[in-house]
Amino acid sequence: MTSPNGHRVAFPPDFLWGAATAAYQIEGGATEGGRKPSIWDTFSRTPGKVKGGDTGDVACDHYHRAADDVKLMAGLGLKSYRFSLAWPRIQPDGRGPANQEGLDFYRRLVDDLLANGIEPWVTLYHWDLPQTLEDAGGWPARDTAGRFAEYAEIAHQALGDRVRYWTTFNEPWCSAFLGYGSGVHAPGRSDGADALRAAHHLMLGHGLAVQAMRAARPEHSFGITLNLYAMSAQTDSAADADAVRRIDGLANRIFLDPVLRGQYPADVVEDVSTVTDFGHVRDGDLAIISTPLSVLGVNYYSRYVVAAPDGESAEPYWRAPSNWPGSENVRFGDRGLPVTDMDWEIDAPGLVEVLERVHREYPAIPIYVTENGSAFVDTVVDGEVDDQDRLAYFDAHLRACSDAIEAGVPLRGYFAWSLMDNFEWAWGYSKRFGMIYVDYDTQVRIPKSSAKWYSEVIRRNGLSPSGSEGQERAQ
Ligand code: FCB
Repeated sequence: MTSPNGHRVAFPPDFLWGAATAAYQIEGGATEGGRKPSIWDTFSRTPGKVKGGDTGDVACDHYHRAADDVKLMAGLGLKSYRFSLAWPRIQPDGRGPANQEGLDFYRRLVDDLLANGIEPWVTLYHWDLPQTLEDAGGWPARDTAGRFAEYAEIAHQALGDRVRYWTTFNEPWCSAFLGYGSGVHAPGRSDGADALRAAHHLMLGHGLAVQAMRAARPEHSFGITLNLYAMSAQTDSAADADAVRRIDGLANRIFLDPVLRGQYPADVVEDVSTVTDFGHVRDGDLAIISTPLSVLGVNYYSRYVVAAPDGESAEPYWRAPSNWPGSENVRFGDRGLPVTDMDWEIDAPGLVEVLERVHREYPAIPIYVTENGSAFVDTVVDGEVDDQDRLAYFDAHLRACSDAIEAGVPLRGYFAWSLMDNFEWAWGYSKRFGMIYVDYDTQVRIPKSSAKWYSEVIRRNGLSPSGSEGQERAQ
């Protein structure tokens, strides 16, 4: 049950409060320090792929401003900072020896975080595959999984004396199905069979990396971050229920089941049988993929409302690049709820559903919400950004987290997406998710109202009535 807005909410004493970013979205310095192109450098330079032709060349210039950004984090009282390492900074060609300059950048960042009492939480892969590896076949090629494990070992060896929390992949669904299915993300290929091969090799790389890192430091926390969706049918028809089953299978269970149970969901294998025979799966792969994890990261933004194909208007799937191989003609609807600037419905109860579902249906595992947040149009007035809409989104979703904890979900922490405005992939800089406003012309940062509010939430380890932290303090 969702507590109505307005209750005072307390979180467990050791709850980990953080904010998240990703390398390509904030760093810039694209050609500095020995970094070579990733698939996102190539993709963003391809006309028509990213809104406004935006690239991550400069982004938030975090590569040069990391020390100041850590000061901002410390000012907010963050307990943890989740960021990703750029593989093409550490191993510019995706194989071979480490690039010391790349490692040094992250070592300085980590040292700075620790000096400010902020726990570094590393994601090894947030979508920036070295272009050389894409040229050699990318994620649909099995070899890429081995390359990833090698890179993970290098990074873990270099930073493992200081970083305890390691996430292998951020949202492998996006890498596989947006990258190789619909092609709306880098590398922009569209072939359903390749998307399914990519999904498998991402998971294989995950398992291999966890095994290698754990062998070196068994005491560390190892996990993967999945983007999970609440699901609803548009109507109560049997056809719509089947459409939900299909999309739930391809979005949620196709990763949850192999990683946490060591098997592909049988119904999904059947749904995609016209696309692939899973000939790319070898004996022993699923045992590697289901290597026990310390934590599961859940990214939550919204719900999918799903309806059965409409026979008359649907394009045959082989003509329509799609995120949903084998279920190309399923339709997506809405529930008429208020939306964010991404047009995503604001659905906090969906977060409770997702967390409870994972807890109920899968083996027990500590969970962290590793991303949750919203894009809204921000305006700077007298040097301030009063983003009450974003603040309310955070408030509602944190109340959902508290409800999940009360229902028995072992939820251990929450990372707001995002620390600061950044390069929102195919949307370029047109969508702002940050708690800190970034003026891309001057690189001036302005903590928005939501940042000040979040800082107070962290200080109190909870929410006060009616989301009024900031105001109460000001009085
Ligand atoms: C997630 C990504 C993150 C950001 C948010 C809005 O899917 O992990 O990089 O783009 O969405």
